[in-house]
This record gives sequence, C-alpha cells and structure tokens, in this order.
Amino acid sequence: MNPENKNHYIDLGERGKFNLRNKLNNLTGKEWIKFTKSWFIHRPPRRKDDEILHPAKYPESLVEDFIKFFTKENDWVLDPFLGTASTLIAAGNLNRNGIGIELNKTYFKTSSDRIKKSKFKNDIKIHNGSSLNLSKIVSKIKDKDFKFDYTVTSPPYWNQLERNSIRQKNRKDKGLDTKYSENENDIGNIKSYDEFIELQAQIFDEVYKVTKNNGYLTIITNNVYYNGKLYPLAYDTAISLTKRGKFSWVLKDEKIWLQDDKPLIALGVNNAWVGNRHHQFCLILRKEEPDGIKKL
Ligand SMILES: C[S@@+](CC[C@H](N)C(=O)[O-])C[C@H]1O[C@@H](n2cnc3c(N)ncnc32)[C@H](O)[C@@H]1O
Repeated sequence: MNPENKNHYIDLGERGKFNLRNKLNNLTGKEWIKFTKSWFIHRPPRRKDDEILHPAKYPESLVEDFIKFFTKENDWVLDPFLGTASTLIAAGNLNRNGIGIELNKTYFKTSSDRIKKSKFKNDIKIHNGSSLNLSKIVSKIKDKDFKFDYTVTSPPYWNQLERNSIRQKNRKDKGLDTKYSENENDIGNIKSYDEFIELQAQIFDEVYKVTKNNGYLTIITNNVYYNGKLYPLAYDTAISLTKRGKFSWVLKDEKIWLQDDKPLIALGVNNAWVGNRHHQFCLILRKEEPDGIKKL
C-alpha cells in the first residue's frame, strides 16, 4: 500500500478499516468484501411483532444488510411495494430517510402504525396509492427534481399468492391473506404472465425516473412453479428491465438468499419432479447514464 494513502483510512478495530474516499457506503473494506459473496443464508431473528398480518413480508435484518451496502447515513431509500414497511423500518433503524408506496389500505395502515411507533429521527414518509404513478407521487411528496439514492423492494411474485395450493393452506391456517387485494392496480392480480412482466417493468420505469444517476436497485423475487412448469420470473424480471429504451437499467448481479430453515414438503414423490424451492433471487441493477448526456 502507498504510505501516502494511510491518512485516508480510519481504523475501526474488529470491523476493519474505513476508507474516507468510499463513495458508496459506510462499510469497511472487510465488510464490503463479505457482502459481495453471491449467496447468503439468512435466518432472521423471530419477529416480536409476529401479529403483522401480511402473507409475504421480508425480514428487516435482511434488507438492512442491503441498505448498509448501497447507501450512506441520511441517504434516501425507496420501496414502491411497501407492504408492512419492512424496508422503511430498516432504513429508519440505520438513520436513512425513506419513502414507501403501498396500494392496499390495510397494509398501509399497518405501515403507518409501525412507523409512528418507531419514532425515527430521520424523515420517513408513506403514501397509499399505486406505484404506476410513482414519479407523480414523489414529486408531490418532495419536489419534481427529487431523486433517491437506492431502491430495495419485493414485488408480488406474479399471482403466486393465489395459486400455490399447499402453501396457500398454511397461509389460510395462519389467518393470512391469500391475495393482496381486489384492486385492479394490484399487479399481483394480473392473470397473464406477459402482462405482469410488462406492468412490473412500467413500475420500475417510474423508479428509474426518480433515481439518481449511478443509484442502485435491488429486487427480491423468484422463479415460480405453476401448472407443471417453471415460469422464469426472476430471469424475465432482470431481462425486461434492461430493455426499456431510455429507462433501461444495467443488470449488475444476483445474490441468492438460501432459505435452509424451510421445511421440506412431499411434492411429486413417486411420480415426477417437483422441487422444494428454498431460495430467492436478489437482483442488483443500476441506473447508469453517461454523465451530462441524457439518453433520448
Ligand atoms: C411481496 S409484498 C411486499 C412485502 C414487503 N416487502 C414487506 O416486507 O412487508 C408486495 C406488495 O405490493 C403491493 N402492491 C401490488 N401492486 C401494487 C401497486 N401497483 N402499487 C403499490 N403497491 C402494490 C401489495 O399490496 C403487497 O403488499
């Protein structure tokens, strides 16, 4: 190492050394490298608030790891499919600001209650509406030129909630919803797979409009098994977002979340292949426009 560079580092003991020229986050080199592994096992601590009735929450501790990597303190985080506000609770815990949009009134109310209870010192705002209008909503909440540093979100996995019969029964038994809403703007209600891919991409066009140049987007999603075949939803999500003309994202990577604590279910035994799908995809994309040149 060049001895002149020595002054750029702060020694944080066990955490490693923090480089003052780090452009992206508040992590040390050691922490940075650890997060770049292409898979992780995440067993979240049991939620204290397990009464939160939402069928597809992701753990705050998981989303915190992503927020720590892709933002610095006081940056702005967006979640266009807010659900019960896991992303914004994580953002608030880490002293980041955030905005979330949720269509379903019940989940919006849950989010609102959770955020109020948390008394964050940072600015956390939520809106009840459709993210198909996201850029308009954000320009009203902030201003027309406002841009986010980072988006992390988990969209509906097409209409998976409605049709996965064994898991569906478990959800019913736990008193959870088996669809998010009856709302026509709920993209989880779209029957056609191709139409879902297009509308989901339209929402990420909206996210693109309100993202800073070089800002990242993480989408947690999965391929889905339906009617005897695998629909490559995670792959099609990645591909579709890179082919959006002036709103095209650059696909950077995937991180695989391995869920090795899920029970195995007897699927297709003695008959035919049906997998126990115990992983999810975390797709990493970035808005990269050449500096100063606006794409048409
Ligand atoms: C997979 S869940 C997100 C769960 C969230 N990550 C959590 O931990 O609670 C997807 C959410 O997207 C919402 N949603 C569906 N279509 C939407 C739309 N057009 N605009 C905003 N929210 C929408 C659903 O109501 C649902 O709560």
